[in-house]
Amino acid sequence: MIQKIQHARAIKASIIVAGDKSISHRALLLGAIAEGNTIIHNLSSSVDVRSTMSCLRQLNAEIIEQVDSIMIKGKGLYGLTASPSVLNCGNSGTTMRLLSGILAAQPFTSTLIGDESLSKRPMKRIIEPLSRMSSKIYSQPGWLAPLAIHGNRLKSIYYHSPVASAQVKSCVLLAGLYAKGVTTVAEPHLSRDHTERMLIHFGVPVRRQDQTVSVSGPGKLKGCEIKVPGDFSSAAFFIGAALITPNSELKIKNIGLNPTRTGLLKILVQMGARIIIQHQDVGSSEPVGNVIVYSSQLNGVKIPPELVPNLIDEIPILAVISTQARGKTILSGAKELRVKESDRLQTIAKNLTLMGVKIEEKDDGFIIEGSQKLRGATIDTYDDHRIAMAFAIAGLIAEGKTQIKNSECVEISMPDFFNILQGIIIE
Ligand code: S3P
Repeated sequence: MIQKIQHARAIKASIIVAGDKSISHRALLLGAIAEGNTIIHNLSSSVDVRSTMSCLRQLNAEIIEQVDSIMIKGKGLYGLTASPSVLNCGNSGTTMRLLSGILAAQPFTSTLIGDESLSKRPMKRIIEPLSRMSSKIYSQPGWLAPLAIHGNRLKSIYYHSPVASAQVKSCVLLAGLYAKGVTTVAEPHLSRDHTERMLIHFGVPVRRQDQTVSVSGPGKLKGCEIKVPGDFSSAAFFIGAALITPNSELKIKNIGLNPTRTGLLKILVQMGARIIIQHQDVGSSEPVGNVIVYSSQLNGVKIPPELVPNLIDEIPILAVISTQARGKTILSGAKELRVKESDRLQTIAKNLTLMGVKIEEKDDGFIIEGSQKLRGATIDTYDDHRIAMAFAIAGLIAEGKTQIKNSECVEISMPDFFNILQGIIIE
């Protein structure tokens, strides 16, 4: 479907966004292997989270959708059973990589497949540590999905991950719950820590020091109640919209403000953004609050590579925002973007170029010239939800018509993106 984007004169509204995708995946996965019932409020409505839910159901997890919550009847560490058919993870790297950590320890074989994009994404990063833990995993040449996982009795390991990836860290920690002894993951920079926080919420002791995290197996998870905060990564697109559209004021309520996710706010404040952050003490394991954003005169910035894992999903919208800043914005240390739902360094550069922006694509980042006028264009999303949403926001301030091709891909993380956008713009 092609979506036309209206030019916006201003953005004025107070909104909420649906539950966080990363936290929702984890709530379902941990709930399924916990003992007792888990109740989840505000679960993400995304297609990716649906993928996790349907894989778990195929593995015999009991997930009941109630009026305003989800109930999972936990089966314990070994209560899942072999799926009669392949497990389809769709577009979701989190589903495939985290679920593999659990399946590596099951007394049965599972086959995981993904869509065209997921079938091109690197799986060596999980196959290697899980194999060291004694699981047998068969992949396609190049360490690609589909994966066949022959579960086994696992050994604990100390794993130095070569990449700062929460998916890798979480996969190994989940496998570590099944291995006798201490399993440790050390990563080059601290990636999002939702798994660690949620394990503690389920009653599992977790040792954390700087970029190192350990669990002791066998772990025992106790079913619990989880309130999923609004998704910061979804909110980021609207934050970007308010910053670059003149005369704007936007309040986003009840969003997750976990510091391992909000690197974007740090950078935007450094760029001169007028943003008010209201932290709330809701006694949950994840920090939550409101963010108020005003249109702002921004300055270009050099993004420190160690901050990249904390704003990894926000780089497409940050690229769009930085076209409006005074001076250059320089990103490096972000090679991981090449193995996301699309090669985001390339898809950002191609689409910004289509809109008339000067951008230099680097092997591990980009340099964007600031103070540029955007020209309306027909955007190729490459079926990447975050590219679609970032360029829809660019379209708000572009001269001429902007259209987003295959716009339905936004459903991967935010099915109501275009509805919310329609509701906040003043034409
Ligand atoms: C995610 C971690 C990140 C992120 C992805 C979701 C997660 O990937 O890009 O959208 O839920 O753990 P990496 O950890 O592989 O960087």
